[in-house]
Amino acid sequence: MELQRRSVAVTCAATCVLSCFLALGMSYPDPTQREKLIKLEASTRIGGHVELSPEEQLLDANLSKLMHEEMAREDFPPALHFFKARPLIRSSPIYGLLQKMPKGAALHVHDFAMVDAEWLVRNVTYRPHCYVCFTYDRSVRFYFSSWPPKPLPHCSPWALMEQLRAATANVTDLDNSLIANMTLWTQEDPEVVYPSQDVVWKSFEQAFMATWGLVTHAPVFRDYFHEGLSQLYRDNILYVEVRALLPETYELDGSTHTREWTMKAYQDTTRQFVEDNPDFFGARIIFTVNRGINRSLFTTAVQEAIKLQADFPETMAGFDLVGREDTGRPLWYFREALSLPAAQGSNLSYFFHAGETDLQGTEVDQNMMDALLFNTSRIGHGFALLRHPVAKRLSRMNGVPLEVCPISNQVLKLVKDLRNHPAAVLMSEGHPLVISSDDPSMFGSSGLSDDFYEAFVGFGGLSSNLGSLKELAMNSIRYSSLPPNLQEKAMALWQTKWNKFVTENL
Ligand SMILES: *[C@@H]1O[C@H](CO)[C@@H](O)[C@H](O)[C@H]1NC(C)=O
Ligand SMILES: *[C@@H]1O[C@H](CO)[C@@H](O)[C@H](O)[C@H]1NC(C)=O
Ligand SMILES: *[C@@H]1O[C@H](CO)[C@@H](O)[C@H](O)[C@H]1NC(C)=O
Ligand SMILES: *[C@@H]1O[C@H](CO)[C@@H](O)[C@H](O)[C@H]1NC(C)=O
Ligand SMILES: *[C@@H]1O[C@H](CO)[C@@H](O)[C@H](O)[C@H]1NC(C)=O
Ligand SMILES: *[C@@H]1O[C@H](CO)[C@@H](O)[C@H](O)[C@H]1NC(C)=O
Ligand SMILES: *[C@@H]1O[C@H](CO)[C@@H](O)[C@H](O)[C@H]1NC(C)=O
Ligand SMILES: [Zn+2]
Repeated sequence: MELQRRSVAVTCAATCVLSCFLALGMSYPDPTQREKLIKLEASTRIGGHVELSPEEQLLDANLSKLMHEEMAREDFPPALHFFKARPLIRSSPIYGLLQKMPKGAALHVHDFAMVDAEWLVRNVTYRPHCYVCFTYDRSVRFYFSSWPPKPLPHCSPWALMEQLRAATANVTDLDNSLIANMTLWTQEDPEVVYPSQDVVWKSFEQAFMATWGLVTHAPVFRDYFHEGLSQLYRDNILYVEVRALLPETYELDGSTHTREWTMKAYQDTTRQFVEDNPDFFGARIIFTVNRGINRSLFTTAVQEAIKLQADFPETMAGFDLVGREDTGRPLWYFREALSLPAAQGSNLSYFFHAGETDLQGTEVDQNMMDALLFNTSRIGHGFALLRHPVAKRLSRMNGVPLEVCPISNQVLKLVKDLRNHPAAVLMSEGHPLVISSDDPSMFGSSGLSDDFYEAFVGFGGLSSNLGSLKELAMNSIRYSSLPPNLQEKAMALWQTKWNKFVTENL
């Protein structure tokens, strides 16, 4: 069929180029002009200006072949909910390559959503002195203590995990149900389990509460972060900036450690990890507070951030607000406190979540503009940016990148089919952006590979190529909070890994 059509076309071209068309009164646009315009458009994309070496071109040809096969699939993964798509993604040869590819930095990841829930249950809840209670709305809470803790409201009496397991007929079932409490992942139809943004956010917040008592136990806190770094490292990520609440941590006797202890724990764990794995570059912390708090607490938090910035200049990257934007307070509500750092001559940087919403025209919908006016270094998500041409222009002109988290936006119900994600447009325009994973443990995704897959295959389709991947990886280092001399070092480390990746996968 295909052959037949082509041979007819060839025959026509050969025998009656002009006369056929002129006789029929037809004309078509100038093909050279068309070719020029297509090239121009391709050059505006992310990766459009990347010059590939001969070796990279070979790998790119290979990748292009794989992409054609991927595009021909009936069950095209980016069109499906990630919970249904994951097995398809994981068995795709493109994913295999992306997993091995050095992806640079993960710039948008949250402190207690880094390590898969399986590790929390199979490792942490098996430690001695671990108590559990079951809330009346089918969630769980944990607490480590030398003696039975005080009862929690709306929760069953505390039980020692050890005794509970001894009294349970099927421990595997119990453990699986605990894992299910700490993630949004489900085997059932996600559209049925999470019919609305309200429902999915409620479960999301419950899952954070379920992990809270485990991860804020001081010895677990260190191990958790170490395990988090290991999981990122295994996904071929060389550096991370963690949005961190810096909570007080506690010991078995109920005594607590300060925020400075928590910051120091991040710093020490990172140093140890880099010492053990010299081809990992490190981690920095973006201190976050919940956007639901009142002005006085918020002002205190900003002052603490200023102090942390002065005390931990190497580890502290900046400040941000977390929690659901739609129900939280807009940035403008906190404008006075947010002006303190500049007024006090602090060089505290901002990394605001903004535009993770589809509530057009609301106060919250102005967060991106306000983030830019407060000189944010990056914008977390910026999902609503296309609807704000002025904010979009500022972001581009000032080189303020978006941290795009495709799977997060899909699971939290801002977009269904990832081919329709606004970042698909932004990538085709070469808007500054990086790809990140937000809360991989909550979504059942890997450090970055799954999100890279969605961006590479879903946003770009056949217009994506190795240059797109290379520019995305380089962006993640260029737009990190690292000072220029360290960026250069990180880039050199990445380049070495990249060259090795290219030659090993020809
Ligand atoms: C526990 O239940 C699972 C099914 O949920 C089953 O596969 C497993 O064999 C059971 N284990 C025991 C020890 O009964
Ligand atoms: C949480 O765990 C409890 C106890 O195992 C279970 O009954 C409940 O269904 C789980 N909740 C979720 C949301 O998975
Ligand atoms: C739990 O993790 C720690 C380190 O994070 C490790 O030393 C320990 O062996 C693990 N325990 C189990 C039971 O896996
Ligand atoms: C702010 O919130 C905290 C904690 O909820 C509360 O103790 C405090 O009184 C509140 N301050 C104001 C001014 O409302
Ligand atoms: C931030 O300011 C402190 C002094 O206030 C200075 O030591 C430090 O180098 C500055 N950091 C950056 C990244 O400019
Ligand atoms: C943002 O940066 C501009 C230009 O450097 C400066 O004039 C302005 O005061 C800054 N705004 C804040 C809120 O820091
Ligand atoms: C690249 O293409 C060659 C030849 O088709 C194939 O043998 C090889 O497995 C491909 N490499 C990757 C990484 O897909
Ligand atoms: Zn986030």
